[in-house]
Parts: sequence; structure tokens; C-alpha cells
Amino acid sequence: MTPAIDVHGLVKRFGAKTVVDDFSIRVEAGQIYGFLGPNGSGKTTTIRMLCGLLTPDAGEGRCLGLDIRTESAAIKRQVGYMTQKFSFWEDLSIAENLDFVARMYGLPDRKRRVAGALDRLGLANRRAQLAGELSGGWKQRLALAACILHEPKLLLLDEPTAGVDPKARREFWDEIHHLAHDGLTVLVSTHYMDEAERCHAIAYLAYGKLMTQGPVDAVIARSGLVTREVSGPDLGRIADALQAAPGVEMVAAFGARLHVSGPDGAALDAALRPWAAEAGVRVEATEPTLEDVFIHLMNRSTDNFQ
Ligand SMILES: Nc1ncnc2c1ncn2[C@@H]1O[C@H](COP(=O)(O)OP(=O)(O)OP(=O)(O)O)[C@@H](O)[C@H]1O
Ligand SMILES: [Mg+2]
Repeated sequence: MTPAIDVHGLVKRFGAKTVVDDFSIRVEAGQIYGFLGPNGSGKTTTIRMLCGLLTPDAGEGRCLGLDIRTESAAIKRQVGYMTQKFSFWEDLSIAENLDFVARMYGLPDRKRRVAGALDRLGLANRRAQLAGELSGGWKQRLALAACILHEPKLLLLDEPTAGVDPKARREFWDEIHHLAHDGLTVLVSTHYMDEAERCHAIAYLAYGKLMTQGPVDAVIARSGLVTREVSGPDLGRIADALQAAPGVEMVAAFGARLHVSGPDGAALDAALRPWAAEAGVRVEATEPTLEDVFIHLMNRSTDNFQ
């Protein structure tokens, strides 16, 4: 089967700054692919190159089997792009906004399509509500409804759930899974770790560079990061001392526990040994979380950048 996205060596520069540097990914059809990375790492820029809104300075590839350089018009007709910023007419109702989008696409059978999208996203009984009066979660649903009106094969969702509460985020993700189950491919950028875990595979970008990619478990395993969990009295004092200790790269508090991580298990254990000998302090092996891995990757990439 043709992959939904297959690009190699993409580069984008703005002035003297290279904001996407030698980026390659392959996303199989029907996958939910997560895009993660710190602010300014190039997620939005990459998404815009994939759907033909920006021309790369180098690199090539295909989106839905079409050339991203020469067939961008055809790509746009088959892609639903949800931009990072809410962009609807605030003084029009939900249904009017969708009708407007359907007209822009020149879609036949507008009434049926708008009604279908309203139903699908549970917006039918709010159809007359003004877009400007919707809460964050409902705005995102309207935006998703607008993306699927023209029955695209690929959805590019740029931080679709930023600032949305956990219940609304979960429902939004249930819908993404339904859409993928129906055969759509979804590329979705996010800063939320729980959302990364709902993807079939993820890519992590930092400062324009692809640092790692693959299924979440593989990304964690491949990171080479070792993590120990410390519990006991006076963790604040232990955390301060460990921050400065050789072999320790990161210390993060989780309630009554510390996550202490570093790339070298022996050096990490040497740093922890004096603390483990203190009364009431326990040191145990644990798996690094995805967040531990990302911060580790980001630390490394800052070094490269400098
Ligand atoms: N049109 C532009 N002109 C100049 N610089 C740009 C332009 N668009 C983006 N940039 C710069 O490119 C870099 C990458 O930006 P981009 O928006 O792709 O990052 P991002 O990963 O989507 O960040 P965020 O998580 O904040 O959305 C940033 O440094 C940004 O300032
Ligand atoms: Mg962005």
C-alpha cells in the first residue's frame, strides 16, 4: 500500500535560520502519527510543507502518492488541515460556518454533507449557536467538522486540543480514533504526553531536527535513558544535591517521589548511593516516562544547537 506520507530530506529556511533541517518521515495509511517538540521546533512549518502550502528549500517526497512540489493543488483537495489558530467567522453559527466552508470547496450536496458532519461530531443540536460563543472544546469540534466536510484521506491537525479540558480532549481523541478506523490517516501535533501515547507512532522534533521517531515504547527503549525513583523524607534537599551531581542529567519531582535520570546507569547509581544509605530513603529502578525522554532529547539538541 502507498504510504500516506513519504518525504525525505526536507529543509526550510527563513532568512539565515534553518527551521526544518533534513526531515524525513514515512506514515502508513490509516495510522495516527503524533508530532511532538518544543515551541518553535518546526512542527507547523513541516505540516505546511507536507500539504503544499510551503515549498521546501530542499528535499522531496509524496503525500497521498502525490508530489509535494508539483501536485500541491491535488494534495490540498484530499487533505483536511486544522490550523493551530481557530479561524472561523465568529458571527456565523456552527451550521453557517460549515456551509461556508463547503461552498469554498465547491462541494456538491452541501446540505447533506453539513448535516453529516454536524451529526458525526455531536454538533447537531448546537447548529444555530454562534461560533464566537463556543467554549474551547466545541470550537475544536467545529474545526474538525470543517476539516472532514470534503471527505479527505489525510488529516493534518496542528495542536487541535491546546487549552481544552481533559474530558473534551479525550472525546476529541475518541473521534480521531474513529476517523482512523474508517481509513483516514491522521498526523497530529501536540504538547500533551497522554495524547502522544494514543498515537500509533510519534516523531519528536527539536530546533528543526528530527530527534527520534517510532512507537512510544520503542522511543523510550531506544533513548538509552536510565531512571531511578527516589522516595523518603526531605526530598527537596536530596533533589537539590542530585541536580549538581555527576551522572545526573535530570531530577523531577512527582508528588512524594523523585525521578532521577541520566544516560549512564553506573554513574547514576554512584550518584544515588550515598542517599540510598540514608534512613528511610528508597531508590528503585523505574522506566523513564515519555516526558523524561523528551527533555533528555531536548537537552541534547540544545547542545548541538550551541
Ligand atoms: N513565515 C515565517 N517567517 C519567519 N520565521 C518563521 C515563519 N514561520 C515560522 N518561523 C520560525 O520558524 C521556527 C519554527 O516555527 P514553527 O511554527 O514551525 O514551530 P512549531 O514547532 O509549530 O512551534 P509551536 O509549538 O510554538 O507551534 C520558529 O523559530 C518560527 O519563529
Ligand atoms: Mg506550531
